[in-house]
Amino acid sequence: MIFDSHAHYDDRAFDEDREEILSSLGKDGVGTVVNVGSGLPGTKRTVGLTRRYSFIYGAAGVHPDEVGELNEETFAWLREQCLQEKIVAVGETGLDYYWNRENHEVQKKWFIRQIALAKELSLPVIVHSREAATDTMEILKQEYSPHIPVVIHCYSYSPEMAREYVKMGYYLGVGGVVTFKNAKKLKETVQETPLERLLLETDCPYLAPEPFRGKRNDSRNLIYTAKAVAELKGVTPEAVIEITEKNARCFYRLDRRRQNDRTDTNAGESPEYY
Ligand code: NI
Repeated sequence: MIFDSHAHYDDRAFDEDREEILSSLGKDGVGTVVNVGSGLPGTKRTVGLTRRYSFIYGAAGVHPDEVGELNEETFAWLREQCLQEKIVAVGETGLDYYWNRENHEVQKKWFIRQIALAKELSLPVIVHSREAATDTMEILKQEYSPHIPVVIHCYSYSPEMAREYVKMGYYLGVGGVVTFKNAKKLKETVQETPLERLLLETDCPYLAPEPFRGKRNDSRNLIYTAKAVAELKGVTPEAVIEITEKNARCFYRLDRRRQNDRTDTNAGESPEYY
């Protein structure tokens, strides 16, 4: 079944019909969703969603645009959230030099701290990187650990750089953009990258694929993304769905998790900031 490796169902855009959409995903072929925190309030809402829906897992993290909300105290709170039962990754974290909402040094500092957190807790990392290709690569090389899987979510850089990431054992997140006519670089990247290194993602409510470009996105639209990837790879959409599901389960270590059944959580006992 379809695995949406990066969604934001906690977003306000779903306030009217969140329940309705989430409860209908299964019958539309969507088996698993990872809801990604893009800040402290979003991480809190993500933990809530993972408790409510069996097929939703979560990532705890602070997007580069939001790192202004981090300090030692709130970072300790974020760490606590990473220990919650169904939190399977740190993210999204990274660098965003497009919006430039926080200065680059501050962004880098909290990116590195979140990678360190992932290393400490042995969790994969979801990286957001926009207009910051060189600095992102530099930090990911400097902080590289063979034990920490990394996905470059909504991959938007060159095929050459993708090759370098793949060599490091990293994954690339591919979403609706791959269906856009003008997405030449991304199409080339997908063509060149082994299917085993790709994860399907919506980044919903953003980045709906064609024919829904510009509209609110949700995981049911991933079939269009899968079809576009299938065409580029010369395989069937079913193969894309099957392989990327396997990749995502492996990346987020869902099978290993179930066996270990982590018990080191103290849900609800951390101080409430949000
Ligand atoms: Ni996102």
